[in-house]
Amino acid sequence: MDLDYTMLGQLTQIFGPSGSEERVAEFIATQLRPYCDELKSDTLGNLMVLRHGTGKKIMVAAHMDEIGLMITHIDKEGFLRFTPLGGVRIPNLVGHRVKFSTGRVGMIGIEKLEKPSDFKLDKLYLDIGVSSREEAEQVVHIGETAVFVGDFVDSGTRIISKTLDDRIGCFIAMEALKRTKSTHELAFVFTVQEEIGTRGAKTAAYALEPDLAIAVDVTATGDTPKAHPMSVELGLGVGIKVLDHSMITSPQVKRWMALVATENRIPFQWEVLEYGGTDSGAIHLSRGGVPSGVLSVPTRYVHSPAEMLDKRDVESAVNLLVALLERATEL
Ligand code: CO
Ligand code: ZN
Repeated sequence: MDLDYTMLGQLTQIFGPSGSEERVAEFIATQLRPYCDELKSDTLGNLMVLRHGTGKKIMVAAHMDEIGLMITHIDKEGFLRFTPLGGVRIPNLVGHRVKFSTGRVGMIGIEKLEKPSDFKLDKLYLDIGVSSREEAEQVVHIGETAVFVGDFVDSGTRIISKTLDDRIGCFIAMEALKRTKSTHELAFVFTVQEEIGTRGAKTAAYALEPDLAIAVDVTATGDTPKAHPMSVELGLGVGIKVLDHSMITSPQVKRWMALVATENRIPFQWEVLEYGGTDSGAIHLSRGGVPSGVLSVPTRYVHSPAEMLDKRDVESAVNLLVALLERATEL
């Protein structure tokens, strides 16, 4: 399968923490304009890419935002304190670099700890290489956000990069739109603010009133040393979600997804994620309820500067999404 991984590389490096997704939206809009009938953005900043048709109205959702840090305080010496924007894990922060929208880079340091239990977020600071508050205020301001620095690396079978959560979902949705011959009414929604509580998906689903929704996002794996037991592995195919903290997939949608995968010989894995959620968590509760499913891309080190996934899983995700969009009448 001929997927444009160079484009994925570009997509992962675009600045887009929750609430500041404009650059990502602009990139996606430019790429998809030739493949759609209509492009629009809503009040919150969701990008809606529409392909008109007859039959079911299908919403495909992938979130544009990434986790980040927001500056809360600047001290006399010019060190910054911050609050997390989304599910930031402290061990993933120390020693790493983050970047502001301006390109300014900072390094996350930690105070001397008296005891291991002091290892908390308020012991961390951001050093942007200045020596006073005045100097710091010339380059950053309170309320400004920063995201991880993390190169895109393509090792052949696997990919390592920052922000595969969820630019890989955006990428899969984009590739599916380019390929689909579906005659249904398609609304590809690139959502905002997923990482802080699926806020974009909520208003988009309400406005669109879809008959069916499919979110595409990453999921964790159980295939690293002494990982929490979980039956998802890199390279074994796209995940079909059964449950996470935000939803239980309806048996009907789940069965239909698995049937279409099996008939098209697309490898898949059942995904049970004991925490976290995705846009479908918000969408399936919209209005009177929307039949919703999730295609999950198995990903190691989610929410770190170096997330890792397997290209074979990306290919099965694109293939399955394309097949589902064509077969939706069966549901
Ligand atoms: Co995430
Ligand atoms: Zn995500």
